[in-house]
Amino acid sequence: MAERSSFVVVANRLPVDEITTPDGERQWRTSPGGLVTALHPVLTEHGGTWIGWAGGTGEAPEPFDLEGIHIHPVPLSADELERYYEGQSNATIWPLYHDAVETPVYKRRWRETYRLVNQRFAQAAAEVAADGATVWVQDYQLQLVPAMLRELRPDLKIGFFLHIPFPPIELFMQMPFRAEVLRGLLGSDLVGFQQRLAAQNFVRLARHLLGLRYEGQSIQVDGRKVKAGAFPISIDTKEMERLAADPKVQARAKEIRAELGDPKTIILGVDRLDYTKGIELRLKAFRELLSDGKLKVGDAVMVQVATPSRERVEHYQSLRVKVEREVGRINGEFGRVGVPAVHYLHQSYSKQELAAMYVAADVMMVTPLRDGMNLVAKEYVACRGDTGGALVLSEFAGAATEMRQSFLCNPHDPDGVKDALMRAVAAEPAELKRRMRVMQRHLRTHDVAQWARTFLDALEAAAEGRDPEPDGVQST
Ligand code: ADP
Ligand code: F6P
Repeated sequence: MAERSSFVVVANRLPVDEITTPDGERQWRTSPGGLVTALHPVLTEHGGTWIGWAGGTGEAPEPFDLEGIHIHPVPLSADELERYYEGQSNATIWPLYHDAVETPVYKRRWRETYRLVNQRFAQAAAEVAADGATVWVQDYQLQLVPAMLRELRPDLKIGFFLHIPFPPIELFMQMPFRAEVLRGLLGSDLVGFQQRLAAQNFVRLARHLLGLRYEGQSIQVDGRKVKAGAFPISIDTKEMERLAADPKVQARAKEIRAELGDPKTIILGVDRLDYTKGIELRLKAFRELLSDGKLKVGDAVMVQVATPSRERVEHYQSLRVKVEREVGRINGEFGRVGVPAVHYLHQSYSKQELAAMYVAADVMMVTPLRDGMNLVAKEYVACRGDTGGALVLSEFAGAATEMRQSFLCNPHDPDGVKDALMRAVAAEPAELKRRMRVMQRHLRTHDVAQWARTFLDALEAAAEGRDPEPDGVQST
């Protein structure tokens, strides 16, 4: 009998991934992505059980405890990995929910496996949750879990949070098993989104697709009320500030500047290598500014960290080719011996090394075509202390709703991106500090603990039929 918990998080990934080193040794390492960054400190504080996939295929490792969290791995076979994770989650739903910036692929067998794997996660949650427990289901990979879990365990309080955007009705309607996905989500007591507009899309969709009645953000389903609301996710601000102020990180930041040749301006990008992140357009903007003579190699250098991600999915393979071709082109045209224009790093780093990069960078470029939130933007702001620094931020990142003192740009407009970058490069230090201070103040009160608290309070109220309008949105 599995250990039973009063607080259970169900996510596709566990906070750690089991990997096999080149010497055949099995090791655990931190999982990639914003979901883990956000939820790890929440679970460390609350305790409870985290149900998720451990990163490999075949039998799941035995449950174990990690930093006060009970880890409950769920197995995936190689076929399931291909169909549920790479296929339905990351070649169908991911592009569709991100404005279809790449064409979504629809396959019947992927949907069938998605259903099967969602049922397995729901079953695991049903076994692990104590009577009346709170179960918090995460993200687009597990949208069927809330309804499946309610069927198995009607006594539970079930919350769902979508970390990525929720599409407008006309895009959602493309999906072949759209009604099933919507019914899956409606198994929750509370469905949380990053943005108000996403929550509105959701309640309107419930009426459009299933003819359900709603009032405000509350939908009537089978005699129950399901609430929808916006809860912009955030970071562990204090921890990020502490890390950035650490003398070792400060020293490493100086070393990075020196290694880059002490240029006037270091421009940094840090992303999973994902086509939603706008990495190519940012490189192109940099190339054109070098070509226009507005930036000069030696004075300015770009560092692009591109974390390996979903490497067997075709969209990701072609993106890698395009990005690496563009980096080669820029360095070929503008670099000199020992002085490349772009440093491209297709690697994962420790939190300390990333913080040192943030501290070293004068300009941070976050230019997604669409992004649920983008925690990198918030991490950069939290790391800047009193030193200013400029954040160039896409209007299409969720973070743009809050980080209003950034240099906002439309990533679809190359001249707009170039203009924002040049304004950031040329801004006076006093202005940069003023902008940073406002955003930092916001992050101190709107951190990940506040996000989790707001969501879980609203879930409690929704499950008990109390009525405060759930909403956590506020801008700087
Ligand atoms: P997403 O969830 O789409 O990956 P976010 O920007 O919200 O995007 O979150 C990314 C998270 O992954 C951040 O916490 C960031 O610090 C971390 N990260 C990004 N690149 C790397 C890397 N190369 N090594 C380690 N962590 C990384
Ligand atoms: O929120 C975006 C997200 O898909 C998370 O669900 C996930 O943890 C992260 O990006 C990284 O993606 P993946 O788990 O596919 O490596």
